Formats: sequence, C-alpha cells, structure tokens
Amino acid sequence: MRSLIDILDFSVEEIEELLTVANDIIDNPQKYGEICKGKKLATLFFEPSTRTRLSFEAAMYELGGNVIGFSEANSSSASKGESVADTAKTISCYADIIAMRHPKEGAPFVAAQNATIPVINAGDGGHNHPTQTLADLLTIYREKGGFNNLTVGFCGDLKFGRTVHSLINALSRYSGIRVVLISPEELKLPSYVKKDVLLKNGIPYTQTTSLEDAIPELDILYMTRVQRERFFNEEDYLRLKDSYVLEPKKLTNAKKDLSIMHPLPRVNEISVSIDSDPRACYFKQVLNGKYVRMALILKLLKEAGRI
Ligand code: CP
Repeated sequence: MRSLIDILDFSVEEIEELLTVANDIIDNPQKYGEICKGKKLATLFFEPSTRTRLSFEAAMYELGGNVIGFSEANSSSASKGESVADTAKTISCYADIIAMRHPKEGAPFVAAQNATIPVINAGDGGHNHPTQTLADLLTIYREKGGFNNLTVGFCGDLKFGRTVHSLINALSRYSGIRVVLISPEELKLPSYVKKDVLLKNGIPYTQTTSLEDAIPELDILYMTRVQRERFFNEEDYLRLKDSYVLEPKKLTNAKKDLSIMHPLPRVNEISVSIDSDPRACYFKQVLNGKYVRMALILKLLKEAGRI
C-alpha cells in the first residue's frame, strides 16, 4: 500500500506530476469537484494544527469527499493506552485514507505498516513534514519557475524544525542548489541531516549566526519559529525565541525577487509589516498547501484502487 511518510518516498518525477495536477486544480477546480464522492479521509491529529488539518479537510471536501477524525489525542482512545498500530487497523475499517500528525517521530510510519489504506504523515515530532514540503515546492515552483540554481537560506530553529529537514531533503535532488544555514549555535541543523543529505548529495552549504550577512545572496529565505514544544526547559526557549526577527530594514540589501517563506504558525520571527511586501509568500504557501494536498489525496487513492 502506497503511503507518504518521507518526501523521498516520491521520485522527482512523481513530485513533478503532483505539482502539475495541483496547478491544474488551481486553473480548473470544477473538474475535480466530485472525484472523491463517497470516500472518507480520516484526520488523526495527536498534536495541535491549524493549517495542515484544516487544509486536508478543505481538500477532501473540495474533491467531493467526506472527513472523519479527531484533533487531539485526549479525545481518542490513545488516552486509554491504545497503540498507534491498533488505531491504524481500526481506522482502516472506517476510512479510505489517513492523514496523521503525532508528537513521536516514526508514528505515521508505524501506522502505515499496520493500515490497509494509505497513510499520509502530517508531521511527526521534530522529524519530517512531507506535505508542508509539497506546499513549499509548489510555492517555489510558482514563484521561481523551477528548483535548479537557487540559493536557499533557512533561518531559526533548524534543530527541531521538521519542515526544514523535509525541504532540504527535497531540494537536494535538484542541481545548482546552495544552502545557507542561519541559526543560533544551540539550534543548528542536526549533523545527521548535514551528513546524510547535504554532504552525501554534494550540496554546498555555509553556516552562520547572522541573518543580515546572509540575506543579500539569497533567492529564498525560509524563516522558522523556535519550536517551544520540543524544548526540555522553558529558560532555554525564552533565551532563544527571538533570535531572529525579520523587519523591513533587514531587507535593505535583499534581492528584489527574494521569496520570503515560512511554514507558519508565526510567533515573532517576521514582523507583520513584511506581510504587504510583494516578496512575502507565506500566505501563498497556506493556499498552495490545500491544492497540493488535493493532488496527493487523488494520487494515493488512485494507486490504492479506491477511485
Ligand atoms: N505549517 C503547519 O504545519 O501548520 P500547522 O501546525 O498549523 O498545521
């Protein structure tokens, strides 16, 4: 059974195909309004979410399907000790496809091993968030026309930021990519991502603590929130939370066609005065997320023979 647990589960060609379908949905939404009639998406969210859960729900409704699910672990039988494996087997009796977010790394993988329907990883701990990456890729594609020869700066919490890990993995398969890692010492990109992704694929990268120094060379600036929920103590979070705040004056030396991205939610990392800058793309990412999740649901349901 085909699932999406890690962005690398899909080939470059398959991702291109998904982006093509997502663009067609944007242009011709009426073609897609009934394809999933009678089908059910189960959203199993053991961790809070606004965009991912609601965009999955909107996606399924816009495909003519229905949605069941829960939005917190406490309202499911996980609170009584039920395992992820048993939950996946149970939901397979009720739904056609699962989108799961879980605080434990690997939980959606376990679900996929036990479900008889496709499982989509909607974020697992500090590990991966492949559907955010699909939203990011669609945004980059629409802004830049492709993925080659881009200098991409990742700024903020690169240690716990699962969207950063997934996007670096995805971009590592294109040519001419350069990566600039901007973070405090304590929140540097994990060495396993540097070794297994950047070094292994020969992606040139630099590390810095200075956002101002890095900005002029960037085609894309991917800002991230410091992930309070992954810290072991509040003191460290409070010390690091405002390490980077993007304000208009910091863009003085930025490229005119810079794309400013953020997976959201935003806390303090981007001043709201940037929102009206034509280079701000983060609310475009939100909308693109719905379209690419529609394309993903269609792909997995087709491969499972359910539509
Ligand atoms: N980007 C993202 O995953 O947002 P939510 O946590 O609101 O789903």
